[in-house]
Amino acid sequence: MNGPRPLILIVDDNTTNIDLLVNTLKAEYRLGIAKRGVNALEYAEKYHPDLILLDIMMPEMDGYEVCSKLKKNPLTESTPIIFITAMSETINKTMGFDLGAVDYITKPFHAAEVKARVQAHLAMALMKSELRSENALLEQMVTKKTAEIQNMLHGIISSMALMVEIRDPYTPGHQQRVAQLACAIAGKMSLTEDAIEGLRIAALLHDVGKIRIPVSILNRTGKLLDAEMEVIKVHPQISFEILKNIPFPWPCARMVLEHHERLDGTGYPNNLHGDAILIESKILTVADVAEAKSSFRPYRPAQGIEAALNELRQHRGTLYDCAAVDACLDLFAGGTFQFDLPQQEAIRHVSSLHNHPHEQIE
Ligand SMILES: [Fe+2]
Ligand SMILES: [Fe+2]
Repeated sequence: MNGPRPLILIVDDNTTNIDLLVNTLKAEYRLGIAKRGVNALEYAEKYHPDLILLDIMMPEMDGYEVCSKLKKNPLTESTPIIFITAMSETINKTMGFDLGAVDYITKPFHAAEVKARVQAHLAMALMKSELRSENALLEQMVTKKTAEIQNMLHGIISSMALMVEIRDPYTPGHQQRVAQLACAIAGKMSLTEDAIEGLRIAALLHDVGKIRIPVSILNRTGKLLDAEMEVIKVHPQISFEILKNIPFPWPCARMVLEHHERLDGTGYPNNLHGDAILIESKILTVADVAEAKSSFRPYRPAQGIEAALNELRQHRGTLYDCAAVDACLDLFAGGTFQFDLPQQEAIRHVSSLHNHPHEQIE
């Protein structure tokens, strides 16, 4: 409300009517007067009255037009309007309501009726405005709390990722880099922002199951024994076990479980084929291969991004999803993608170590 007493704008071209209304209301309200529609619009925009009493039959611009203009202006749209006129046909009334008026008083009016209606609508407007403020406050609180929860979630995810990376000093930042690339690929494939958020979380945690692998195997240089590879191959299942009870709104646990599956069924742990693998998992796989192949591992030197992209090209459609491979190749070809986090420097003394085909343990 404006000041201690509510401000009411009376719009009427007839001086007698104006006097009657002024006498009725002046004891309780501050009053503004406009004799023409155009003046009413100016006054309402400038002084923000708490309520408008609006005559219909006026020269130049009638009350309907004034009402419709007031409702279209964001500065005046919420001001309650009561039509006050000699036109008493139902059609006149409904037209007023259709234009957004809150009430209709017919002339000749009783002072008590005008007072009662004005009072009721002012109270209603006040309640509405209080409700709007409360809603705005609640929305602010929800936004703030959501941001807090999201920050907490990101913190927890980073800590979980760190737990596994601390044990495996050769792959720091691997999951973060995979997450960045996977999201870029998903963006190029036009996945929704919501789906990309789920993929990001799964990518940040996809190798968390490596916590189960002995450090001696993780850090082992040279060719891995078959038995050691078998141990390494349990990590997607362990990642799944770790995540499966977290009520993410996305199938993150399934994404991590499937990140070593291959289209032709030669992947692990479940030898899934093509359509049985989630699209997010297929994207995660491509990002994982691209990042891992291009980086150093204790059992082989870094091969560079070109070698990684060649691997994807070579097995496009057989091991790796075509659309995901194409999106990944486009990102690097167009120079639009760069890892934010630098790759770990290769440890030179193992640069002569050889790599196994299909020894992708990342
Ligand atoms: Fe992995
Ligand atoms: Fe990985």
